[in-house]
Amino acid sequence: MIIAVDGPSAAGKGTLSRRLAAHFGLVHLDTGALYRAVALAVLRAKGDPGDPDTCIAAAKALDRETLDDPEIRSERTAAAASKLAPIPEVRAVLLSYQRNFATRPPGEAKGAVLDGRDIGTVVCPDADVKLFVTASAEARAARRLKELRERGIEAISSHVLQDMKERDARDQARAVAPMVPAQDAIVLDTTDLDANAAFEKALEMIASRDVA
Ligand code: CDP
Repeated sequence: MIIAVDGPSAAGKGTLSRRLAAHFGLVHLDTGALYRAVALAVLRAKGDPGDPDTCIAAAKALDRETLDDPEIRSERTAAAASKLAPIPEVRAVLLSYQRNFATRPPGEAKGAVLDGRDIGTVVCPDADVKLFVTASAEARAARRLKELRERGIEAISSHVLQDMKERDARDQARAVAPMVPAQDAIVLDTTDLDANAAFEKALEMIASRDVA
């Protein structure tokens, strides 16, 4: 069983994906972490996240340790990730890792939940369930601000909102694998839903499609 969860920044994809994975006995892959890890490697080497050669080399050399580095969660890393995400060869390197994970999930898992921007459209177009999780920009910025503050990072609300809008615009406008709901995706708007309500709603939607 493969569940694809796509959507814009801070819409609640990660929390929902982890809960769906636990519920259905699947393993979860946060594909944004791959782009963030490549971005962090580029930034640490003082490279330019807009330069294809630098970013392709960093994607090919990506190691596990960078994926576990808390610094991948910073807003600076996120912005750099969305600047290198349009590079087709970077996406191609990360695509094979993601497809492998989906088709041969680690351990005893009987499937996988992948969250990102292009899972339902490009990475797993045959996924059993496709969710597109969204929320108003203001609700998403408020959640991201809370997340940052909980991690002890001081951030200014208007800057978080502005950075998020710019990143979403880049993710939507790119030529390769733009952020767009798959034709057969179920759209879940979490603006007025907390994590529990979003999970319940997703389970209801999945049950109504008769796929689980
Ligand atoms: O945590 P948040 O939802 O804000 O972002 P993320 O999922 O960690 O993704 C960071 C960036 O990586 C996105 O803004 C995209 O530019 C890129 N990304 C992508 O292009 N394709 C994916 N499947 C996942 C992330």
